[in-house]
Amino acid sequence: MSEEIPLARPVLGPAEERAVLEVLRSGRLSLGPRLAEFEEAFAARLGVAHASAVSSGTAGLHLALRAAGLNDGDEVVTSPFSFVASANAIVYERGLPVFADIDPVTLNLDPDAAAAAVTRRTRALLPVHIFGYPANLPAFERLQLPIVEDACEALGAVHADGTAVGARGHAAVFAFYANKQITTGEGGMITTSDPAVKERLDSERNQGRATDMGWLDHDRLGFNYRLSDIACALGIAQLERLDELLGGRSRVAALYREALEGLEGLGLPCPDTGGDRRGWFVFVVQVPRGSDRDATVRALAQRGVQSKPYLPAIHLMSYYRERFGHRPGEFPVCEDVAARSLALPFFPEMSEGQVARVAEALRSALA
Ligand SMILES: Cc1ncc(COP(=O)(O)O)c(C=O)c1O
Repeated sequence: MSEEIPLARPVLGPAEERAVLEVLRSGRLSLGPRLAEFEEAFAARLGVAHASAVSSGTAGLHLALRAAGLNDGDEVVTSPFSFVASANAIVYERGLPVFADIDPVTLNLDPDAAAAAVTRRTRALLPVHIFGYPANLPAFERLQLPIVEDACEALGAVHADGTAVGARGHAAVFAFYANKQITTGEGGMITTSDPAVKERLDSERNQGRATDMGWLDHDRLGFNYRLSDIACALGIAQLERLDELLGGRSRVAALYREALEGLEGLGLPCPDTGGDRRGWFVFVVQVPRGSDRDATVRALAQRGVQSKPYLPAIHLMSYYRERFGHRPGEFPVCEDVAARSLALPFFPEMSEGQVARVAEALRSALA
């Protein structure tokens, strides 16, 4: 059998090796010069005033919600169709994730459903740019509540008005796990236009110590959510070739679209509409109604193609059912999409032949 096609694979080359080696040789492995360099390069690339690097996207969401003033019992309206971390971060601060259904086309939080879920206790909105497609931020901004954006999957995405996702001024969180558009192994970044938020994030990621304080003096509760200089050096090298990496993903997405368009009943990622542009992260299809998604995953595996049910609905996960009493039927659009969603292998260096093999395997799995 030919070689298995993986779900994801980072692109790492001599530039990344050199960057990491330089840090190792310098001896400044953390809190060195690469941290600010990475943050400044990231902020400049997006066209936003500030960026704070953190140890993961999850850590970034946690700090961004704290900066939005989340307190015990506060509600945060968010999407049930996301990676579990976006809801978990609300629970870390003893907030209540209030889910609202998604738009069946973009798969992002539906602004009307979100507006209907707002109460007097709503402290913030947490839209997710799922699969790299820009959430409808102008509609959420009209609700006049603090916004934390989960942009963990959306580096490179652009809103219709030309603003990069993450550059509208709210705290927006990116993630750099190895399947993401750029990787630092593990890592994340929070962007914001507010210098006071930047100051708070930088302090809380470093045990609550202000930059001008003496060693071991701390004026607030903090965490160790730092990103090492080794990781930041890797991030700088990856960011320098972001256009190449995003271009590779767009190319593979176009190949998939062409190869899969004729497959009866198969749902494809929505094309860019109204000026919004996706930052390609994953290629997720929805199996035709009546097909068994999990059997499709097994059939693909037998043909040497990795795939994954992606994403399961958060409110139906055991923890969320038990803790918050959620039941099937609450968010029908999300539940229908989650039951049929299937992530196919997707990475910048995928060849035409690999895409054709996946398409053929999917065709015969669904036949
Ligand atoms: C939508 C979303 N939110 C949050 C995260 C969490 O990021 P991390 O894994 O870096 O903590 C991810 C990463 O997979 C994600 O896809």
